[in-house]
Amino acid sequence: MTATIAPTSTTRLTGLQPTGGLHLGNLLGGIRPLVESQYDGPAIAMIADLHALTMEHDPAKVRVASLELAAVLLAAGVDPEHTALIANSQIPEHSELHYLLECVANYGEVARMIQFKEKSGSGPVRLSLLTYPVLMAADILLYDIAFVPVGEDQNQHLELARTIATRFNARYGPTFRVPEGVRPENAARVMDLAEPTRKMSKSNPSAAGRIGLLDPPEVVRRTIARAVTDNVGEVRDDPENQPGISNLLGILAACTDSRPREFTSYGELKREVTDAVEALLAPIRARYAALSADPGHLRSILAEGKAKVRPTASETVRRTRAALGLLD
Ligand code: TYM
Repeated sequence: MTATIAPTSTTRLTGLQPTGGLHLGNLLGGIRPLVESQYDGPAIAMIADLHALTMEHDPAKVRVASLELAAVLLAAGVDPEHTALIANSQIPEHSELHYLLECVANYGEVARMIQFKEKSGSGPVRLSLLTYPVLMAADILLYDIAFVPVGEDQNQHLELARTIATRFNARYGPTFRVPEGVRPENAARVMDLAEPTRKMSKSNPSAAGRIGLLDPPEVVRRTIARAVTDNVGEVRDDPENQPGISNLLGILAACTDSRPREFTSYGELKREVTDAVEALLAPIRARYAALSADPGHLRSILAEGKAKVRPTASETVRRTRAALGLLD
């Protein structure tokens, strides 16, 4: 029998969308901070496959990308003996709590989310794209989560989760723990290497400035070698005037967990960044190859994760339904 997750004041959860093309920003902003603190208390690593349906998607690709993400998370150090690896679609309480929280969230506060505005640019907009942050709040509030390691781009969504929890508790009585975001000290916002004033993102049609977690070493080296810099000629951490160089320094600091030394040339900095990124990615690549070859094993780890967290999820939904006045 699988042990269940017993939430404590240190329970952590992070989630990632299985939309393919995982990059260095995802690793440094979300995955690594969870992995590094996973033994501080109970932890959950979540595949947000429900979130992947908020934009046009190919069903077969979502399925493949979900297993790929499971393999990447394990390859990056998620320890399934300790940390529950789950997919939010496989645990129906996520959808149930999502609806219940929609009855507490306001239209205006979700419509002003930056990511909604960015992604709802053209064509028909799925209603789920609008309500997506409420589902994210459900993912978190379902498990009495204390800490949510995420990159800076999720700040607004996390704030909404806190607002919803606080409002619910005030209106219907203490029901949810109000979670806190955890931002990595460095690289909370990894920028695109080719356009260092925009964040590294899966949705950028150009991959020129993105370092994929499974990119071969020569691609990583080339991408960093071609990273856009400036004409200043000095290596300084000055995001305003030297965004490219500052980004490289941030990546180096995050990869090595230390303050970068002095550099006398951009070339020297780029070589050191390449080595640091490669040191991080090489073992992930190797473990990924073995893990992805056995989808049955990945599925059984997801099933174990589900069994571990489900009792907490159903207890939270029970509590929420009761607080809202629904019949049991
Ligand atoms: P997603 O899939 O867009 O991103 C996954 C994680 O990667 C971080 N990230 C970055 N960090 C630093 N620099 C970047 N350039 C960068 N790009 C992405 C994100 O901040 C995130 O931590 N809505 C979430 C998924 C989600 C979730 C949750 C997260 C669903 N439910 C509950 C936490 C808790 C998302 O779309 O992340």
